[in-house]
Amino acid sequence: MRKAKLAVFASGTGSNYDAIIEAINKGTLDAEVTLLVCDRPKARVVEKAKRNGTPSFVFDPKQYAKKEMFESKIVEILKEAEIDLVILAGYMRLIGKTLLQPFEGKIINIHPSLLPSFPGLDAIGQAFNAGVKVSGVTVHYVDAGMDTGKIIAQDIVNITDEMTREELQNEIQKVEHKLYPETIQKLISRGESS
Ligand code: GAR
Repeated sequence: MRKAKLAVFASGTGSNYDAIIEAINKGTLDAEVTLLVCDRPKARVVEKAKRNGTPSFVFDPKQYAKKEMFESKIVEILKEAEIDLVILAGYMRLIGKTLLQPFEGKIINIHPSLLPSFPGLDAIGQAFNAGVKVSGVTVHYVDAGMDTGKIIAQDIVNITDEMTREELQNEIQKVEHKLYPETIQKLISRGESS
């Protein structure tokens, strides 16, 4: 059977991109990453994709007059590449309707908090500063809102009194790197990527 084709969207380091590639290489995720989309030409994830031979579409949003314009281009590329699932992995940009409509139900995101708590930027800092004793990670479908789509999976991280913000970030990332590939595999097994 044809493997599910994933497009990973990222803006930064790409540790979740790495975790997905690693799960594929280990055989725990039955898919292929056939595209990286990145909105920051200098992001580390761009280098990583180059090294792995993942084709990429890297763009600078400032070069486009409107979001619709770069999103139309992305839709064209996703269709051309026959992408089954769009995986947002630290893509720090709201998805507009140009991209959302043709891929409704096929775009998922990972967020470093237990949504609906702490949506938006710096969710880890928000949770840390709020003094909550439990935070975690959420994988959810993407809708037009900011981190508001239907929740698919969550996992928790306990925050101890001694923990620094950096330690919390490390714990959250460990959970992300396990939860995201596992959740993608579940969606693929359920046939939600076709
Ligand atoms: C991840 O922690 C992800 O959950 C977060 O950005 C980080 C990207 O790290 N995403 C959001 O905050 C989205 N609202 P990475 O580039 O190392 O994968």
